[in-house]
Amino acid sequence: MEVFHGNIVYSRSEKELAEYTDSYLAVENGVIEGIYPVLPDAFCNLPVTDFGEDVIIPAFSDLHVHAPQYPQRGLAMDELLSDWLSRYTFPLESKFADMTFARAVYDAFVEDLVRHGTFHAAVFGTIHPEATAYLLDRLEEKGLSAYVGKVNMDVNSPAFLCETVETSLRETERFLVQYSSNRKARPILTPRFAPCCSRELLRGLGELAKKYEVGVQTHLVESLWEKKTAMELFPQCTCDTEIYQQAGLLENGPVIGAHFIFPDPEDIYILKKHNGIAVQCPDATVSIIAGIMQTASLMEQGLRVCLGSDIAGGHRLGIFSQAGRAVQLSKVKSFYEAKENRSISFAEAFYMATKSGGSVFGKVGSLEKGYVFDALVIGGVSDPFLELTPAQKVERFCYLGETSHIHRRYLAGQEIGG
Ligand code: GUN
Ligand code: FE
Repeated sequence: MEVFHGNIVYSRSEKELAEYTDSYLAVENGVIEGIYPVLPDAFCNLPVTDFGEDVIIPAFSDLHVHAPQYPQRGLAMDELLSDWLSRYTFPLESKFADMTFARAVYDAFVEDLVRHGTFHAAVFGTIHPEATAYLLDRLEEKGLSAYVGKVNMDVNSPAFLCETVETSLRETERFLVQYSSNRKARPILTPRFAPCCSRELLRGLGELAKKYEVGVQTHLVESLWEKKTAMELFPQCTCDTEIYQQAGLLENGPVIGAHFIFPDPEDIYILKKHNGIAVQCPDATVSIIAGIMQTASLMEQGLRVCLGSDIAGGHRLGIFSQAGRAVQLSKVKSFYEAKENRSISFAEAFYMATKSGGSVFGKVGSLEKGYVFDALVIGGVSDPFLELTPAQKVERFCYLGETSHIHRRYLAGQEIGG
């Protein structure tokens, strides 16, 4: 048993933060045993690690991030999705055929993920099996919880980034088989988005989903251009999400839909039916997509929503900064669109960043009893003029925070460097 002392904040529920001042958190074998305002007699002889004024929070979950786009952060942010992909992103991704390049980028990406306090992530690789396997191995080696996908694309893509259906399915199956026994970093099917996948390819992936009981991550109703193109290419489907449902891709594991900005009622119905999760990527959507998720109304409709960095559509890796941005965007959305009749609270954004996203990986994303102690210790965000509550310190961190404010990192109870 290990005991930590400090302030503690986590999400009790979608709308409510749990906040403890000057309290004790006990961890046994990497799992939280309980939180105590007063140290129980039974623990009195145990050493206590004291964090003083700092705040213990759950580590973050990033449910949509493109590891190969890490070198592209903050570039071409004045473009829109289609041009951004063809002019910048696709040429960059083609470089992952070169393992020397891939290793260097993926090593740096995984280090920076940890530095930003993201210990659980749904990650896109590229079409390249060897590079994507290297990425998965690095995440596994670090002990991070992850879903990692070899990207599939076989139509409407540049020749240097276009697979045949046969190669795409064969390499994907090999990838699934290779990692079928992994516990932490696991494979997931990753058709990039409907505009670059044929019906035949999606059908084949649906068969693999069933055979290997794996889930899917993709971009869903992310932009008006994407939605229109998807409907032209799949006229037999009534909405973007139905394309994946018809292919049998939503039955066997987590269903992770990135962006979900322009859903029809059928998209919401299908995603909810399959217990899918919609990922808001606040920075990315204002930069390359210019659309805002209806976060509050999706929550009201009972859909699971969480956060993603969408590096490099988004420019910042820290999910904490996306939590602050999600509140800002929700206000803009509710101000300009009558349908969105309220904006989300900071508590709701923090829930998206931690407990909601974490639920995709297991018992992570909270500090309740029974959860894995994947946690961060936040400090240096006090105010010289005002006494801040622990929850206010966390809120400030999500708006003004830097990685230097993460004073300590615990992964499954073990302290790790950043
Ligand atoms: N849609 C298809 N590919 C991508 C990508 O790499 N990033 C984003 N944000 N959207 C996409
Ligand atoms: Fe993306």
